[in-house]
Amino acid sequence: MSLKDKIGAVRNDFRAAIENISNGPVKLEELRVKFLGRKGKVAKLFSTMESIAPDERANAGKLLNKLKDELELLFNSAVKNVTQNQKQNESDYIDYTLPGIDVPIGSIHLIEQTLTEVKDIFKSIGFSIAYGPEIDDEYHNFEALNIPKHHPARDMQDTFFVEDNAVLRTHTSNVQIHLMENQPPPIRYIVPGRVFRNEAISYKSYCLFHQVEGLYVDKNVSFSELKGTLDYFVRRMFGDNIKIRFRPSYFPFTEPSAEVDIWNSERNQWLEILGCGMVNPKVFENIGYDPKIWHGYAFGMGIERIAMLKYKIQDIRHFYRNDIRFLEQF
Ligand code: PHE
Repeated sequence: MSLKDKIGAVRNDFRAAIENISNGPVKLEELRVKFLGRKGKVAKLFSTMESIAPDERANAGKLLNKLKDELELLFNSAVKNVTQNQKQNESDYIDYTLPGIDVPIGSIHLIEQTLTEVKDIFKSIGFSIAYGPEIDDEYHNFEALNIPKHHPARDMQDTFFVEDNAVLRTHTSNVQIHLMENQPPPIRYIVPGRVFRNEAISYKSYCLFHQVEGLYVDKNVSFSELKGTLDYFVRRMFGDNIKIRFRPSYFPFTEPSAEVDIWNSERNQWLEILGCGMVNPKVFENIGYDPKIWHGYAFGMGIERIAMLKYKIQDIRHFYRNDIRFLEQF
């Protein structure tokens, strides 16, 4: 075999071997020793120089050096590839046994949770849900509810005026009027929503709070049905051991009227949670229902106070401070 052929054979062997490195287990160092080491194939070819005729030696030396350079180049780039692949593999590596990273997720605000409980209870006994405007005219918030201008009853609910004849509603009772204006009886709705009052702030009163209004209009609606419904609601909300009382009261839009108190065992006193009564026939006249045919009851409950009693919260202002330490307890 001529030197040229031998050189060709070594080159081919090396190329085949180094190609296998990238997709096989042949180790680079072994390859280097086998071809480029002191006793490797290339060195062996150099050692045959002695037997080559003197006038051909220079040319043979050139060819051999060329081979050596070529193989070293291939080898070095193979080394580079392998180390790069290794790094790549390391960064791709995922340790599925590591504990996950906690993603902080919020919780549903306690007022929203309580609203959902109230809605679920009333939905289960046949009430639908409606919503109405938070800014309304004086007619819907007052007059239609039998609270005329300059009547002392307006003082019961100190009012925020947005402009002349536009108020932040002081109660959800304005939606009673909207509901009855927009459809004939019978009607059975609850109305959750925000209400606003310009009154002294204390542990149990805030300038903004939530109510759920109830309105049931049909033939032969009685006060005992109202009492039974509210009693059922309170028991489902607080359990059978809750202490509750109905207390006679006054609202211009209901007659007779009552309030419901719940015993606050933390403070050893009653806390009012709702007002209620039979819809005043004057209200039916205002919106055009015949009071001789239709009867109704209505109630309006304070959601913050219900949540305070149920979750033993001492101060209504906690709901509006948005202190995470308070919120995340629920
Ligand atoms: N609107 C009254 C209030 O805000 C509550 C109420 C509603 C009373 C419906 C009777 C009937 O205090």
